[in-house]
Amino acid sequence: MTQVPHALASLCLQDKVIVVTGGNSGIGKAIVEVVGSLGAKVVIDYRSHPERTEELIDEVGELGGRSIGVQADVSKLEDLQQLIDTAVQTFGKIDVMVNNAGIETRTSILDTSPEDFDNVMNVNLRGVFFATQYAAKQMISQGSGGRIINISSVHEDWPMPNNTPYCVAKGGVRMLTRTAGVELADKGVSIVNVGPGAVATPINDSTMNDPELLAKLNAAIPIGRMAQPAEIASVVAFLAGNGASYMTATSVFADGGIMMSSPGL
Ligand code: BGC
Repeated sequence: MTQVPHALASLCLQDKVIVVTGGNSGIGKAIVEVVGSLGAKVVIDYRSHPERTEELIDEVGELGGRSIGVQADVSKLEDLQQLIDTAVQTFGKIDVMVNNAGIETRTSILDTSPEDFDNVMNVNLRGVFFATQYAAKQMISQGSGGRIINISSVHEDWPMPNNTPYCVAKGGVRMLTRTAGVELADKGVSIVNVGPGAVATPINDSTMNDPELLAKLNAAIPIGRMAQPAEIASVVAFLAGNGASYMTATSVFADGGIMMSSPGL
């Protein structure tokens, strides 16, 4: 009979090695905090603000976890490889790769410059593609397999006018997860997207600092408010554990119902 994890054991991340890109702010930071407190060994990738990473490492230690920081820009392939190598050198393996780092330009198709387009693609799609490739190779060669969790967005499927490059990249991540998830299933590597709606993180500062825009956004969300980063991180923590062993090649949304929002007209 297949071993089914006990409900509580399925949430325990004891000794799992988890890499989180963009791990020192926003949703990434919340993921580091929750998986660290559940016993994971965490590799915090970050691009800037080493002091924030140091503070986070201390915080994870106070929560009873262990973590290290690695400065790596996910849009640079040599940095990505170095991130994977450092994780393996330090903790011996990678069980879960969380591709969280992301940027957006909030530009329309009409005024997106080639530089804007390339920057968004390089971080949000190319970086995720090659982090998936490098992590999957490691997971296959270590023999135990592993899981890749991509922090996508409701906008992997739902248009956001005036944020076109972002939507294009997230749509790519949707198909990356479906296609690579199918390709790698028999090699023990599963891939799942988490699609947050609007979350109170620095990426949404411009909305949060504009009371009129914020009121409009809240009104469009059936739950009536933006998410806190911890409300996305808890979904990721579940997906990182053994309780999610039958999930692959799909997306899970935590969006307060925004994608289903309807004025009832
Ligand atoms: C985007 C935000 C947007 C939110 C809800 C996120 O993925 O980064 O700019 O407000 O989705 O639409």
